[in-house]
Amino acid sequence: MVHRRATVLRRIPLAALFILGCSAAPSAAPDAASPPVDVAAPHDAHEPSDVRDAGADASRPARPDDRCPGGNALPYPQSAEVKFTTPLPDLTLATGDAPLRLSRYYTPCAAEPRLLVVRVMAAWSGPSQHHAAHTRRLLELPEASRLDLLDVLVSGADNLPPDDRDLADWRARYDAAPAALARSDASLWRPLSIGPQHLPLVLLVDPRTMAYVQFFDAPDTHELPFEITDALARLDRRARPPRPTFTRYDGRLPLDAWEMVQAMAPARPPPDPTNAFADNPRAAALGRALFFDPRLSANGEVACARCHDPAMGLADGVARSVGVDTGDRNAPSVLAASGQRWQFWDGRADSAWAQALGPFENPREMGFTRLGVAHAVAQRYAAEYTALYGPLPPLDERARFPAAGMPGQSTWEAMSADDRRAVDRVFANVGKSIAAFERAVTPGESAFDRYARGDVSALPETARDGLRTFFEAGCDQCHHGPTLSDDSFHNVHFDTGRRDGQPDPGRFAGVDALRESPFRADGAFSDAPATSAHLRRLQPVEAMRGQFHTPSLRNVASTGPWGHGGTFTSVRAVVLHYAEARDRRGDLRTVGELDPALGPFHRLESVITGVVTLLQSMTAAPVVP
Ligand code: HEC
Ligand code: HEC
Repeated sequence: MVHRRATVLRRIPLAALFILGCSAAPSAAPDAASPPVDVAAPHDAHEPSDVRDAGADASRPARPDDRCPGGNALPYPQSAEVKFTTPLPDLTLATGDAPLRLSRYYTPCAAEPRLLVVRVMAAWSGPSQHHAAHTRRLLELPEASRLDLLDVLVSGADNLPPDDRDLADWRARYDAAPAALARSDASLWRPLSIGPQHLPLVLLVDPRTMAYVQFFDAPDTHELPFEITDALARLDRRARPPRPTFTRYDGRLPLDAWEMVQAMAPARPPPDPTNAFADNPRAAALGRALFFDPRLSANGEVACARCHDPAMGLADGVARSVGVDTGDRNAPSVLAASGQRWQFWDGRADSAWAQALGPFENPREMGFTRLGVAHAVAQRYAAEYTALYGPLPPLDERARFPAAGMPGQSTWEAMSADDRRAVDRVFANVGKSIAAFERAVTPGESAFDRYARGDVSALPETARDGLRTFFEAGCDQCHHGPTLSDDSFHNVHFDTGRRDGQPDPGRFAGVDALRESPFRADGAFSDAPATSAHLRRLQPVEAMRGQFHTPSLRNVASTGPWGHGGTFTSVRAVVLHYAEARDRRGDLRTVGELDPALGPFHRLESVITGVVTLLQSMTAAPVVP
């Protein structure tokens, strides 16, 4: 039963949670909007010595300072694994440079106690990014000189175990962070979360004993400085400072949540250096014409716009898209494509322009070929094309350039390598034009966007309550920023839409498809092949099985049915799935491990309705030029 309440208690010290969980559940969970409740304080259970005594090693003297009569060096406390009740073990963590051992922080006989602040983070997690961007809030504390900050990255931006490159990226992004940075496996820290794992975990450790003074999951960066001051007061045996009343925005949101809401306002997509024509208006005009042209399909009837209809939020309103044939997946809106690197539910394209080439040759979608596309461009768009990209190959030489052909077909394989390359270039430029058009599509202004700009009255009370739940339930771990997506991959156990009875392996298969694509961001047709660090680990690993790309929540209410398989027929059904995530396995064909960030959370009718109303408030039709 403990884990059921865990999300409601989010942002409350985890140690307190542990005590609550053990002591036969004192009445109801505290209101999550109230300041963190230091449940243990009255029992004095947080004295560092007591916390340490809770561990295996009861033989040690009770007070750290009693142990150092002559200032002698003591061995690092024995501790085999990371868990609540024992000191932090003497881990050796990779840093991209010399390995970092935790014993570096161990100062058993320090005259003035210090505090080790460990932040366990994932590069994709919204609150982790928020903490890294606001390290300054810790450094501005009067006691800052007594702090040692250690950041441990447990997952890279693409939700794989981090490597040195992830550390370098994180360092470059949060340049100002003066914390030591290391990496480790996420599973190492799992025992510290009894409920869903909302990152960052923040551990306050007494370096004299390496025991936890306190720890938190995803605490508020405005409130953490107080917790640190409080922890130091305890270590100093001073009177503890009075707990301030922390401001709540709109009477409900912790200030971090409000800052993250402001960062959810629509923004221009980041530049795409792999497409030199991304922001070229003439390329966008050509791309628009191509997007709406049904003649670029096998039966002359299926344009991109068939499944990405401006009247349907640039999606199609059906569970599984119907083109030349019926597919197995739901069509996402094109609205968010320019704001994300990874395309398709399984990430099998890594740019918007490469994505646009897939549907033409997909036998269930447009059923066409790249040679067919090149001929159509020569016949109908030659002037626009050549003005942008230079001369077309001599496509009217039919012996060299048959009417139809793509890799795997004999017409294509019979062509010279140079001619195939020339056609691939036309094809890539078609993709770059369509991507330029997609970048010109802008989100409509939703009620939620007005709220994010400071107009509290733009949202009804229910939606504002729903917003509080959104943060408490950890939706912000994965749905954050201007597209309300982390542009990463997670396994959230949504049902599959496949009709052949097989599980959908998701990213596990997408990664293979991407490796084989000539249109990758590091390939010959990219305008910036150097931007390829994200492709360094294109090997399928088990953790990818059942992972899907986090979709944008912009305009979400009008792009149903929902989920990669289109199996959720209402937004409410999606929210209920999350509320039950640990109990409900999706259908029996879902594969892989459920992401540890996921709930359960309260299934109270009012809570569910709140989140549904919030998601509806994020809805506004995109503006298509
Ligand atoms: C028959 C319906 C259909 C047609 C036609 C179609 N799409 Fe799609 N589109 C889909 C489906 C289904 C997906 C998801 C497929 C997947 O991820 O496996 C998708 C995915 C996408 C995405 C990825 C969005 C994201 O968030 O990952 C973009 C962008 C897109 N399509 C653009 C286009 C363009 C451009 C064209 C024309 C060249 C096109 N589509 C033609 C059905 C269609
Ligand atoms: C661990 C990351 C993660 C967390 C946490 C998370 N989501 Fe998602 N969300 C995803 C992924 C991944 C998908 C796509 C899953 C699929 O289709 O297989 C998704 C899909 C959705 C969709 C469907 C969108 C569509 O267009 O089909 C909605 C709505 C949604 N999430 C809302 C929420 C809400 C509300 C919460 C909090 C209760 C939440 N998510 C928490 C990762 C996450």
